[in-house]
Amino acid sequence: MILVTGGAGFIGANFVLDWLRQTDEPVLNLDKLTYAGNPENLASLQGDSRYVFVKGDIGDSSLVEKLLTQYAPRAVLNFAAESHVDRSIHGPEDFIQTNVVGTMRLLQSVRSYWQGLPESERADFRFLHVSTDEVYGSLSPTDAAFTETNKLEPNSPYSASKAASDHLVRAWLHTYGLPVLTTNCSNNYGPLHFPEKLIPLLIVNALAGKPLPVYGDGLQVRDWLYVKDHCSAIRRVLAAGKVGEVYNVGGWNEKPNIEIVHTVCSLLDELRPRSDGALYKTQVTYVQDRPGHDRRYAIDAGKIERELGWKPAETFDSGIRKTVQWYLDNPDWVAHVQSGAYREWVQTNYTRRS
Ligand code: NAD
Ligand code: DAU
Repeated sequence: MILVTGGAGFIGANFVLDWLRQTDEPVLNLDKLTYAGNPENLASLQGDSRYVFVKGDIGDSSLVEKLLTQYAPRAVLNFAAESHVDRSIHGPEDFIQTNVVGTMRLLQSVRSYWQGLPESERADFRFLHVSTDEVYGSLSPTDAAFTETNKLEPNSPYSASKAASDHLVRAWLHTYGLPVLTTNCSNNYGPLHFPEKLIPLLIVNALAGKPLPVYGDGLQVRDWLYVKDHCSAIRRVLAAGKVGEVYNVGGWNEKPNIEIVHTVCSLLDELRPRSDGALYKTQVTYVQDRPGHDRRYAIDAGKIERELGWKPAETFDSGIRKTVQWYLDNPDWVAHVQSGAYREWVQTNYTRRS
């Protein structure tokens, strides 16, 4: 089996669902169920004997060591993290605790398990660390896209904590020989995306008749990838990636935020027009910028394409249409995640910006 950490979050849940659609190899999902972890994401797996869920922290070494001994996974895929940049600005502590200390403890637990494996299994074992393009910092409009050899120049508490975890993973290979792989992916979007992030926030606010908050001038550029393409890249890296290598993952889909906002608005105008006949873009509201806001990210995905033959299946047009439709089809999921804690966050992040 494989052990997935953070499998109740956005990307982890999509990964677990896709994995079990494509193979019968069981999955053990270890997730702390923070505000971002949602067991409802995996409700369709209830009663499926290939899926085991354990609520717990990657930093709880005795729990992780017990699980490794009990389930003997052939690979550990680390999705668990605090993942939202704005939250890291308000409170960096949890980011250091999970992304840095948690990853270090997980690496230690996995190392001790791996060292105890028979030699044949030790060679085939993998620790795959899921990371982000934000570790490379910010690009100017004319800079070339990030390659795997770019320096790590993180600018937010979130990206600094992820860069630290990437360094730890690298060190556990070089110092202890742990067979690691790292992926650095661009912005994901798709089903099950928690509505603190731009695209799902736009959809749920638009439908609720609320403002669509655009930070600063809205001309910051992100490189968008449909979440299921990220999942297929991770499967490919796990299957064929070379130990110790870093693989950038992206969709060659750079877009300024304001274009994303207008695309989501147009799709909603088409699929769920406002009852008063007005266009959703009338709800757009420019608000105070994110402190230290990175201007542009762009991923050069040439290495994973050349060396592992991976390519995204979705274009941005097909992926964003599926995404908007998913939110329209799943109002209950949206209502359930908009709990008291979610409303408090919206209050914290947006009141002072308006
Ligand atoms: P998310 O915030 O939606 O989910 C994170 C999950 O990790 C949640 O289920 C949460 O409960 C769990 N978790 C948090 N702390 C934990 C801990 N200490 N122990 C166990 N579980 C814990 O995040 P996401 O968007 O799904 O991102 C998953 C991973 O992919 C992260 O490592 C993130 O840095 C990386 N990533 C995200 C994106 C993106 O666009 N969302 C892009 C590139 C890389
Ligand atoms: O690049 C990969 C990263 O993408 C991941 O590592 C992170 O986990 C993930 O959260 C995401 O980070 P971003 O900060 O790019 O995503 P977010 O959705 O928060 O914001 C996308 C862009 O939209 C960013 O430029 C900020 C802007 N934005 C965001 C929100 C929430 C707005 O203009 N208004 C908003 O209300």
